[in-house]
Amino acid sequence: MNAQQSKTTIYTKEGELQLPLNIVVIGCGLGGLAAAYCLAQAGHNITILEAASAIGDVGAGIQSSPNVSRLLMRWGLGPQLQEIGVKIQALSLKRWSNDEVIGWTPLGDLVDKEYGFPFYLLHRADFHRVLYEAAEPHCNVRVNSRVVSVDPSKPSVTLASGEIIYADLLIGADGVKSVTREYVVGGPDQPRATGDAAYRALIPAEKLLQDDDLRPLVEKMESNIWMGPGGHIVGYTIRAKKEFNLVMMHPDDTEGGIESWTAEGNVDKMIETYKGWNTTVQKLLALVPSTLNWRLMDRDPLPSWIHKDGKLALLGDSCHPMLPYRAQGSAMAIEDAAVLGNLFSHCSDRSQIAPLLYAYQSIRYHRATATQRSSSLNRFIFHKPDGPEQEERDREMRAAKEDALRVARGEKSTYTLTGNSNQWADKTKSDIQFGYDADEEAEKWWLVNGKRLMALVPSMELKPRVMSSANRDH
Ligand SMILES: *[C@@H]1O[C@H](CO)[C@@H](O)[C@H](O)[C@H]1NC(C)=O
Ligand SMILES: *[C@@H]1O[C@H](CO)[C@@H](O)[C@H](O)[C@H]1NC(C)=O
Ligand SMILES: *[C@@H]1O[C@H](CO)[C@@H](O)[C@H](O)[C@H]1NC(C)=O
Repeated sequence: MNAQQSKTTIYTKEGELQLPLNIVVIGCGLGGLAAAYCLAQAGHNITILEAASAIGDVGAGIQSSPNVSRLLMRWGLGPQLQEIGVKIQALSLKRWSNDEVIGWTPLGDLVDKEYGFPFYLLHRADFHRVLYEAAEPHCNVRVNSRVVSVDPSKPSVTLASGEIIYADLLIGADGVKSVTREYVVGGPDQPRATGDAAYRALIPAEKLLQDDDLRPLVEKMESNIWMGPGGHIVGYTIRAKKEFNLVMMHPDDTEGGIESWTAEGNVDKMIETYKGWNTTVQKLLALVPSTLNWRLMDRDPLPSWIHKDGKLALLGDSCHPMLPYRAQGSAMAIEDAAVLGNLFSHCSDRSQIAPLLYAYQSIRYHRATATQRSSSLNRFIFHKPDGPEQEERDREMRAAKEDALRVARGEKSTYTLTGNSNQWADKTKSDIQFGYDADEEAEKWWLVNGKRLMALVPSMELKPRVMSSANRDH
């Protein structure tokens, strides 16, 4: 269905006639759906092109940190989030050999209080479904529509069927292995092997509940990270505590391995990898029915997310793919989408498309790049072999934990957490990540630059002026 046909005339906040653009979003993943939703809300005509024959998503656990929950709740998805999410109570950093809790950061209601929005653990497929249900009524979703080539200057895309689709603007939300990125960058990218791979698995939570040592892992609703030499394991419960999600980082031993979310892994090999780890970990891994092995590749930040002709922009993993060490990949894509939608709600002339895209990039680039870098930082922090550096790390994390416990008892914080090895305990870092409001950033940009942008449009004066309250104020 195409909502555009039933839409009445829309005005921008400045009282200009809003110009409904034809926008083609390439890729129906989390980022593509979020972009489609936001741009449709901004009054544009959106077509999503998806290569697969059915809409859906694979993968396992993802996190909706407060900065993302903030946006989703603003989009009216609060009840759905609450239904599909598990509210994370704390982050627990544990030692590989004896299961000791070394670092601990309380989250739960504290996060609500501090940032105004909850922190949820979700199954990626549930999250995708919620976004799809939000976006689909407002845009045209086409499956079996693989984009084989792009003309970034028309702009248009050609599908595998030979069909050519023209638009005013193309948004490349086609993920880590983006085709559209090649057009922006000017060729295929050269990802580097990180030397790590990640096993992923889901265990029915009832299996953990049957074991006294494992039951707390479900009941406490914490995110657990076991740090060990050369690897770490992340485990938390999702799907209304019905499933336990595991991601296990380890040295990449796949010869000529491929970067794929769906490559089958070998359970025996997986268990062998963590052979010396504590009994709790071993018991947990013994419950894994099957696993996927995902080779982790690193990519440098792109010089630009926008094609020079100003009609094609990238979003989410296609322009800033993240290593999963800090669970922020999907958050970044959702924030990108919010900023894009917000900016394009101001669009009253085609000549504004390129400047608005550059505004999107300038608002998002620094943050996404910084997150890209800080998420790889955890790899070096977590994977230290036992020795002086590991002991120093653990000392820092323990001090932060003692401090968190003091605060939880109602006492004063007495320890400086800035730069702490437990990046979640670092309040400065968390404020930057969780306090960020993507919509607010876009509004700020518009307040400073909007008038100048509008002044560049000569035809503007010819358009009917409508007195809105926003307009009268000036
Ligand atoms: C696991 O840790 C506990 C202490 O928390 C210890 O008693 C036990 O020996 C450890 N098991 C292994 C296999 O290291
Ligand atoms: C919406 O965009 C699609 C793709 O560009 C186009 O085929 C369609 O005609 C547009 N609909 C309207 C109402 O402009
Ligand atoms: C939200 O916060 C997380 C904190 O870990 C951060 O990684 C992510 O980049 C933030 N997202 C946005 C859109 O700012």
